[in-house]
Amino acid sequence: MQIITAIKEMQEKIAQYKHNGMTIGFVPTMGFLHEGHLSLVQEAKQKADLVVMSIFVNPLQFGPNEDYDRYPRDIVRDEQLAKNAGVDILFYPEVTEMYKDTRYFHISVSGLVDVLCGSKRPGHFDGVVTVLIKLFNIVLPTYAFFGKKDAQQVAVVMKMVEEFNFPIKIIPVETVREEDGLAKSSRNVYLTSEEKQEATVLYKSLQLAKTLIEEGETNSRSIIEKMTRFIQNHSQGNIDYIEIYSFPNLKPLPNLQGHVLVALAVRFTNVRLIDNILLEI
Ligand code: PAF
Repeated sequence: MQIITAIKEMQEKIAQYKHNGMTIGFVPTMGFLHEGHLSLVQEAKQKADLVVMSIFVNPLQFGPNEDYDRYPRDIVRDEQLAKNAGVDILFYPEVTEMYKDTRYFHISVSGLVDVLCGSKRPGHFDGVVTVLIKLFNIVLPTYAFFGKKDAQQVAVVMKMVEEFNFPIKIIPVETVREEDGLAKSSRNVYLTSEEKQEATVLYKSLQLAKTLIEEGETNSRSIIEKMTRFIQNHSQGNIDYIEIYSFPNLKPLPNLQGHVLVALAVRFTNVRLIDNILLEI
Protein backbone atom coordinates (compact mmCIF):
# COMPACT_ATOMS: atom_id res chain seq x y z
CA MET A 1 0.00 0.00 0.00
CA GLN A 2 1.36 3.42 -0.94
CA ILE A 3 0.86 6.27 1.50
CA ILE A 4 0.69 9.72 -0.07
CA THR A 5 0.35 12.99 1.79
CA ALA A 6 0.93 15.57 -0.97
CA ILE A 7 -1.84 16.55 -3.40
CA LYS A 8 0.58 16.97 -6.30
CA GLU A 9 2.05 13.50 -5.85
CA MET A 10 -1.43 12.02 -5.59
CA GLN A 11 -2.49 13.71 -8.83
CA GLU A 12 0.63 12.48 -10.64
CA LYS A 13 0.04 8.90 -9.47
CA ILE A 14 -3.64 9.01 -10.48
CA ALA A 15 -2.71 10.39 -13.90
CA GLN A 16 -0.43 7.37 -14.46
CA TYR A 17 -3.12 4.87 -13.47
CA LYS A 18 -5.74 6.65 -15.59
CA HIS A 19 -3.30 6.65 -18.50
CA ASN A 20 -3.11 2.87 -18.15
CA GLY A 21 -6.90 2.70 -18.38
CA MET A 22 -7.50 1.67 -14.78
CA THR A 23 -10.77 2.33 -12.97
CA ILE A 24 -10.51 3.92 -9.54
CA GLY A 25 -12.68 3.10 -6.53
CA PHE A 26 -12.54 5.80 -3.87
CA VAL A 27 -13.38 5.45 -0.18
CA PRO A 28 -13.27 8.87 1.54
CA THR A 29 -13.04 8.58 5.35
CA MET A 30 -12.11 10.53 8.44
CA GLY A 31 -10.16 7.55 9.76
CA PHE A 32 -10.42 5.61 13.02
CA LEU A 33 -11.47 2.82 10.73
CA HIS A 34 -14.03 0.17 11.62
CA GLU A 35 -15.79 -2.65 9.78
CA GLY A 36 -18.12 -0.14 8.12
CA HIS A 37 -15.19 1.51 6.32
CA LEU A 38 -13.66 -1.86 5.50
CA SER A 39 -16.89 -3.02 3.89
CA LEU A 40 -16.67 0.06 1.62
CA VAL A 41 -13.17 -1.09 0.66
CA GLN A 42 -14.48 -4.59 -0.11
CA GLU A 43 -17.15 -3.11 -2.40
CA ALA A 44 -14.54 -0.91 -4.06
CA LYS A 45 -12.25 -3.90 -4.66
CA GLN A 46 -15.10 -5.76 -6.36
CA LYS A 47 -15.80 -2.91 -8.74
CA ALA A 48 -12.54 -1.08 -9.47
CA ASP A 49 -8.98 -1.89 -10.55
CA LEU A 50 -7.42 0.40 -7.96
CA VAL A 51 -8.71 1.30 -4.48
CA VAL A 52 -7.86 4.70 -3.01
CA MET A 53 -8.83 5.56 0.55
CA SER A 54 -8.49 9.03 2.03
CA ILE A 55 -8.14 9.72 5.72
CA PHE A 56 -8.76 13.35 6.52
CA VAL A 57 -10.56 14.74 9.55
CA ASN A 58 -12.11 17.67 7.78
CA PRO A 59 -12.28 20.73 10.07
CA LEU A 60 -14.77 22.47 7.76
CA GLN A 61 -17.55 20.01 8.54
CA PHE A 62 -17.40 20.46 12.34
CA GLY A 63 -19.29 23.25 14.10
CA PRO A 64 -17.53 25.46 16.69
CA ASN A 65 -18.89 23.40 19.61
CA GLU A 66 -18.48 20.02 17.96
CA ASP A 67 -15.85 17.33 18.43
CA TYR A 68 -13.17 18.23 15.85
CA ASP A 69 -10.33 18.36 18.41
CA ARG A 70 -11.28 15.17 20.19
CA TYR A 71 -12.44 13.24 17.09
CA PRO A 72 -10.72 9.82 17.50
CA ARG A 73 -7.52 9.43 15.46
CA ASP A 74 -5.10 6.51 15.20
CA ILE A 75 -3.18 6.60 11.94
CA VAL A 76 -0.85 3.71 12.82
CA ARG A 77 -3.78 1.36 13.39
CA ASP A 78 -5.63 2.77 10.36
CA GLU A 79 -2.65 2.16 8.07
CA GLN A 80 -2.54 -1.49 9.14
CA LEU A 81 -6.29 -1.96 8.72
CA ALA A 82 -6.32 -0.27 5.31
CA LYS A 83 -3.37 -2.34 4.14
CA ASN A 84 -4.93 -5.62 5.35
CA ALA A 85 -8.21 -4.70 3.66
CA GLY A 86 -6.43 -4.32 0.32
CA VAL A 87 -6.32 -0.52 -0.13
CA ASP A 88 -3.79 0.32 -2.87
CA ILE A 89 -3.23 3.99 -2.06
CA LEU A 90 -3.88 5.74 1.23
CA PHE A 91 -4.17 9.50 0.79
CA TYR A 92 -3.49 11.18 4.12
CA PRO A 93 -3.02 14.95 3.73
CA GLU A 94 -2.48 17.51 6.47
CA VAL A 95 -5.08 20.26 6.99
CA THR A 96 -2.53 22.80 5.71
CA GLU A 97 -2.09 20.75 2.53
CA MET A 98 -5.83 20.53 1.85
CA TYR A 99 -6.71 24.07 2.83
CA LYS A 100 -3.76 26.21 1.75
CA ASP A 101 -6.02 29.16 1.18
CA THR A 102 -9.70 29.37 2.07
CA ARG A 103 -10.23 33.10 1.59
CA TYR A 104 -11.87 33.25 -1.79
CA PHE A 105 -14.59 30.66 -2.06
CA HIS A 106 -17.31 29.32 0.17
CA ILE A 107 -19.41 26.39 -1.01
CA SER A 108 -22.93 26.52 0.33
CA VAL A 109 -25.50 23.75 0.01
CA SER A 110 -28.96 25.25 -0.33
CA GLY A 111 -31.22 22.22 -0.72
CA LEU A 112 -31.63 18.92 1.15
CA VAL A 113 -30.02 20.36 4.29
CA ASP A 114 -32.95 21.99 6.06
CA VAL A 115 -33.88 18.63 7.62
CA LEU A 116 -32.19 15.86 9.65
CA CYS A 117 -28.51 16.52 10.56
CA GLY A 118 -28.34 19.46 8.15
CA SER A 119 -30.81 21.43 10.27
CA LYS A 120 -29.05 20.50 13.52
CA ARG A 121 -25.49 21.06 12.29
CA PRO A 122 -25.48 24.34 10.33
CA GLY A 123 -22.66 24.45 7.78
CA HIS A 124 -21.84 20.76 8.18
CA PHE A 125 -22.77 19.81 4.61
CA ASP A 126 -21.04 22.91 3.22
CA GLY A 127 -17.87 21.45 4.72
CA VAL A 128 -18.59 17.92 3.48
CA VAL A 129 -19.26 19.12 -0.06
CA THR A 130 -16.17 21.38 -0.06
CA VAL A 131 -13.83 18.57 0.93
CA LEU A 132 -15.45 16.09 -1.47
CA ILE A 133 -15.15 18.48 -4.42
CA LYS A 134 -11.46 18.76 -3.62
CA LEU A 135 -10.98 15.03 -3.04
CA PHE A 136 -12.91 14.10 -6.19
CA ASN A 137 -10.75 16.51 -8.22
CA ILE A 138 -7.57 15.05 -6.73
CA VAL A 139 -8.48 11.34 -6.93
CA LEU A 140 -10.64 11.45 -10.10
CA PRO A 141 -12.50 8.30 -9.06
CA THR A 142 -14.65 6.18 -11.33
CA TYR A 143 -16.70 5.10 -8.30
CA ALA A 144 -17.01 6.59 -4.81
CA PHE A 145 -18.36 4.56 -1.89
CA PHE A 146 -20.39 5.94 1.01
CA GLY A 147 -22.04 4.23 3.97
CA LYS A 148 -25.82 4.40 4.13
CA LYS A 149 -25.60 5.20 7.85
CA ASP A 150 -25.32 8.83 6.82
CA ALA A 151 -28.24 8.74 4.39
CA GLN A 152 -28.44 12.53 4.13
CA GLN A 153 -24.77 12.63 3.13
CA VAL A 154 -25.51 10.06 0.42
CA ALA A 155 -28.44 12.17 -0.84
CA VAL A 156 -26.37 15.39 -0.85
CA VAL A 157 -23.39 13.76 -2.58
CA MET A 158 -25.58 12.14 -5.25
CA LYS A 159 -27.15 15.54 -6.00
CA MET A 160 -23.77 17.27 -6.03
CA VAL A 161 -22.35 14.80 -8.52
CA GLU A 162 -25.43 15.21 -10.72
CA GLU A 163 -25.59 19.00 -10.52
CA PHE A 164 -21.87 19.58 -11.11
CA ASN A 165 -21.49 16.80 -13.71
CA PHE A 166 -18.81 14.84 -11.93
CA PRO A 167 -18.24 11.68 -14.01
CA ILE A 168 -18.39 9.56 -10.85
CA LYS A 169 -20.80 6.81 -9.86
CA ILE A 170 -21.78 7.09 -6.20
CA ILE A 171 -22.27 3.69 -4.58
CA PRO A 172 -24.15 3.61 -1.27
CA VAL A 173 -23.20 0.63 0.91
CA GLU A 174 -25.23 -1.09 3.67
CA THR A 175 -24.61 -0.06 7.27
CA VAL A 176 -22.47 -2.54 9.21
CA ARG A 177 -23.81 -3.32 12.68
CA GLU A 178 -22.72 -4.95 15.91
CA GLU A 179 -24.55 -8.18 16.70
CA ASP A 180 -26.98 -6.23 18.91
CA GLY A 181 -27.84 -3.86 16.03
CA LEU A 182 -25.74 -0.83 17.03
CA ALA A 183 -24.40 0.74 13.84
CA LYS A 184 -20.59 0.75 13.66
CA SER A 185 -19.25 4.27 14.07
CA SER A 186 -15.89 5.82 14.91
CA ARG A 187 -17.75 7.82 17.57
CA ASN A 188 -18.96 4.69 19.44
CA VAL A 189 -15.73 4.91 21.48
CA TYR A 190 -17.27 7.87 23.30
CA LEU A 191 -20.02 5.66 24.79
CA THR A 192 -19.68 4.28 28.31
CA SER A 193 -20.31 0.52 28.51
CA GLU A 194 -23.77 1.17 29.95
CA GLU A 195 -24.54 3.64 27.16
CA LYS A 196 -23.30 1.14 24.58
CA GLN A 197 -26.08 -1.19 25.70
CA GLU A 198 -28.61 1.63 25.73
CA ALA A 199 -27.56 2.85 22.30
CA THR A 200 -29.16 -0.25 20.80
CA VAL A 201 -32.43 1.71 21.17
CA LEU A 202 -31.61 3.50 17.93
CA TYR A 203 -31.73 0.31 15.87
CA LYS A 204 -34.55 -1.22 17.94
CA SER A 205 -36.71 1.86 17.44
CA LEU A 206 -36.03 1.70 13.69
CA GLN A 207 -37.08 -1.94 13.73
CA LEU A 208 -40.24 -0.88 15.56
CA ALA A 209 -40.93 1.65 12.78
CA LYS A 210 -40.36 -1.04 10.16
CA THR A 211 -42.82 -3.39 11.88
CA LEU A 212 -45.45 -0.65 12.20
CA ILE A 213 -45.09 0.24 8.51
CA GLU A 214 -45.24 -3.42 7.49
CA GLU A 215 -48.43 -3.76 9.54
CA GLY A 216 -49.95 -0.95 7.48
CA GLU A 217 -49.24 2.23 9.46
CA THR A 218 -48.94 5.11 6.99
CA ASN A 219 -48.91 8.05 9.39
CA SER A 220 -45.40 9.39 10.04
CA ARG A 221 -46.39 11.30 13.17
CA SER A 222 -47.80 8.20 14.85
CA ILE A 223 -44.64 6.20 14.03
CA ILE A 224 -42.41 8.99 15.36
CA GLU A 225 -44.45 9.17 18.58
CA LYS A 226 -44.09 5.43 19.17
CA MET A 227 -40.35 5.51 18.44
CA THR A 228 -39.96 8.47 20.83
CA ARG A 229 -41.77 6.65 23.62
CA PHE A 230 -39.70 3.51 23.03
CA ILE A 231 -36.40 5.41 23.24
CA GLN A 232 -37.47 7.38 26.30
CA ASN A 233 -38.59 4.19 28.08
CA HIS A 234 -35.43 2.23 27.31
CA SER A 235 -32.56 4.72 27.56
CA GLN A 236 -31.23 7.94 29.07
CA GLY A 237 -30.46 9.21 25.56
CA ASN A 238 -31.85 12.59 24.45
CA ILE A 239 -33.55 12.52 21.09
CA ASP A 240 -32.15 15.15 18.72
CA TYR A 241 -34.56 14.22 15.95
CA ILE A 242 -36.66 11.41 14.55
CA GLU A 243 -37.81 12.22 11.03
CA ILE A 244 -39.35 10.40 8.07
CA TYR A 245 -38.84 11.52 4.46
CA SER A 246 -38.81 10.34 0.90
CA PHE A 247 -35.36 9.27 -0.27
CA PRO A 248 -33.28 10.75 -1.87
CA ASN A 249 -35.33 13.96 -2.11
CA LEU A 250 -35.82 14.25 1.66
CA LYS A 251 -39.37 15.57 1.41
CA PRO A 252 -42.14 14.94 3.96
CA LEU A 253 -44.50 12.14 2.99
CA PRO A 254 -48.20 12.66 3.72
CA ASN A 255 -48.65 8.93 3.10
CA LEU A 256 -45.76 6.55 3.35
CA GLN A 257 -44.94 5.16 -0.04
CA GLY A 258 -41.97 4.71 -2.39
CA HIS A 259 -38.45 4.93 -0.94
CA VAL A 260 -38.96 5.88 2.69
CA LEU A 261 -36.17 7.01 4.99
CA VAL A 262 -36.72 6.74 8.75
CA ALA A 263 -33.80 8.50 10.44
CA LEU A 264 -32.88 9.57 13.94
CA ALA A 265 -30.15 11.14 16.05
CA VAL A 266 -29.82 10.55 19.80
CA ARG A 267 -27.42 12.24 22.21
CA PHE A 268 -25.64 10.38 24.98
CA THR A 269 -23.26 12.00 27.49
CA ASN A 270 -20.30 12.54 25.14
CA VAL A 271 -21.66 11.61 21.76
CA ARG A 272 -24.49 12.07 19.35
CA LEU A 273 -25.30 8.95 17.31
CA ILE A 274 -27.24 8.69 14.06
CA ASP A 275 -28.90 5.76 12.35
CA ASN A 276 -31.63 5.09 9.78
CA ILE A 277 -33.43 2.53 7.69
CA LEU A 278 -34.50 2.81 4.09
CA LEU A 279 -37.72 1.03 3.22
CA GLU A 280 -39.35 0.31 -0.11
CA ILE A 281 -43.12 0.57 0.23
O1 PAF B 1 -18.52 10.38 6.13
C1 PAF B 1 -17.40 10.86 6.38
O2 PAF B 1 -16.54 10.24 7.03
C2 PAF B 1 -17.08 12.29 5.92
O3 PAF B 1 -18.21 13.08 5.96
C3 PAF B 1 -16.42 12.33 4.54
C4 PAF B 1 -17.33 11.79 3.47
C5 PAF B 1 -15.11 11.53 4.57
C6 PAF B 1 -16.07 13.78 4.18
O4 PAF B 1 -15.18 14.33 5.10
